[in-house]
Amino acid sequence: MTKKWWHDKVAYQIYPKSFYDSNGDGIGDLPGIIDKLDYLQDLGIDIIWLSPCYQSPLADQGYDISDYYRIDPRFGTMEDMERLIAEARRRDMYILMDLVVNHCSDEHEWFRKACEDPDGKYGNFFYLKKKTDGELPTNWRSYFGGPVWEDLPGTDRQYLHVFHKKQPDLNWENPELREEVYRNINWWLDKGLGGFRIDAIINIKKALPLRSYEPDRDDGLCGMHVMLQEAKGIGTFLSELRDRTFRQYDAFTVGEVFNEKAEEIPDFIGDDGYFSSMFDFNETMCGASDKGWYDARPVEPDDYKHRCFESQAKVGNIGFLSNIIENHDEPRGVSRYIPEGDCCTESKKMLAALNFMLRGLPFIYQGQELGMENMPFTSIEEIDDISTRDEYLVALEAGLTPAEALKAVSKYSRDNARTPMQWSDEANAGFTSGTPWLRVNPNYASINAKSQKDDPDSVYAFYKKLIALRKDPAYKETIVYGALKPAWEERHNLMAYYRKGDRTLFVIGNYQREEQEILLPGAYKKVLLNNYKEIAADGSRIRLHGYQVVILEM
Ligand code: GLC
Repeated sequence: MTKKWWHDKVAYQIYPKSFYDSNGDGIGDLPGIIDKLDYLQDLGIDIIWLSPCYQSPLADQGYDISDYYRIDPRFGTMEDMERLIAEARRRDMYILMDLVVNHCSDEHEWFRKACEDPDGKYGNFFYLKKKTDGELPTNWRSYFGGPVWEDLPGTDRQYLHVFHKKQPDLNWENPELREEVYRNINWWLDKGLGGFRIDAIINIKKALPLRSYEPDRDDGLCGMHVMLQEAKGIGTFLSELRDRTFRQYDAFTVGEVFNEKAEEIPDFIGDDGYFSSMFDFNETMCGASDKGWYDARPVEPDDYKHRCFESQAKVGNIGFLSNIIENHDEPRGVSRYIPEGDCCTESKKMLAALNFMLRGLPFIYQGQELGMENMPFTSIEEIDDISTRDEYLVALEAGLTPAEALKAVSKYSRDNARTPMQWSDEANAGFTSGTPWLRVNPNYASINAKSQKDDPDSVYAFYKKLIALRKDPAYKETIVYGALKPAWEERHNLMAYYRKGDRTLFVIGNYQREEQEILLPGAYKKVLLNNYKEIAADGSRIRLHGYQVVILEM
């Protein structure tokens, strides 16, 4: 594997709308991010991924872009963006933007022109079909519910949207569209971006000719995965994309890739891959049901362990996964992967260490370093996210009462991660001096950055130690490049693995509230990290406390 500049980095995702509001309008903004760069630098962050802040009607919170060359005024100006890039560079940090090119917004100029003249140049930027009475061109179900076809205003056509109807899919088969995309990417890279996180990219290749598939629910529609399974040839698009843009700048790219097959991993993230890295979603998909969120099964500690090891084995040393416990599309990792009732400082630190020490690039989502938890939603009206609102209806249709439906979707709502960042115990968690666009989690008085920053026992302090360990010259080579070898894989509620490089590290987490005894295969040299004050060891015999995690040098 060729070494790359970004291999030893630590990344952090910012959801701009909820990070820090500098002007009191209740919406986070770019100057707010600049204000907090020192906080991120102090934590040890190198790469910052910004969820979209381009001009957008915000139907899907910025993942619906109406102008790829502009910053939405709610987030700031282009000068703010340039200043952010420069201020980050001054601190040896890199900014990634979100590249959302499977679709744009229905308020984008291209789409307006397509409505005006569906047979003209811009009609071919989208997937348009002539309307036929009572029948849709295909029976695919959009990711946000309902059919993927919508009438193209003022015409006799329908357009395809695999996400929301305000997110028309772009036609990647059209070279003119691809040129526009490359021009925009290079324009941004010329501004000094470190690279991109690449949104929903797996959807850009459709199985042609478009057709219907076997329905998988009573609505007569079928999930998008069925068509995607059949779509071949995405590699041609992705290599062209890489060659025409990222490669020229040695940019870092991380793909939102869901359905890769084992044999495709070298194509995606090998030395000459389409992307630098891709997220590991294997854990987030655990327990999911085709029927909807209401039918999902909670993730058990053993599931979490097996899913992590499965991904690690699949990728091996072919490339680098990007490891997460949460992001802006997922509930909070501590609320999901720690059994109900056991979420506490120790268990949060345990999950942090188990995830952070995996081979790959660690990504921290804003507030994760504080152990931020899911939101206790009290009404569906409190939820803004279009995806949760759809899943709520799916749950009601399946016969759940409104209270049951709310409870079910609350567990998975994307808004759990989108509540404002908890900076302090002051009004609105110190996020804004105005009215926050989304309600602050009421636990901010006890979970916030201000109280944790100088507390050596806080979750924040533990993340800082994990980051420092990854950067410690003595251990860096092993943590970044060392092989991962699971230990005691079948042992219940214990997750343990070696990292083997020029040194041997042993990461061991007792994934339950009860104590658990283990017998090491030999003596350890040193305890590198421990979420308890002591380690109850008698030679190689260790009695782990509930949710104790230790990183040992063997
Ligand atoms: C990705 C984004 C998500 C968005 C969707 C459509 O999955 O992470 O937030 O809704 O793409 O752009």
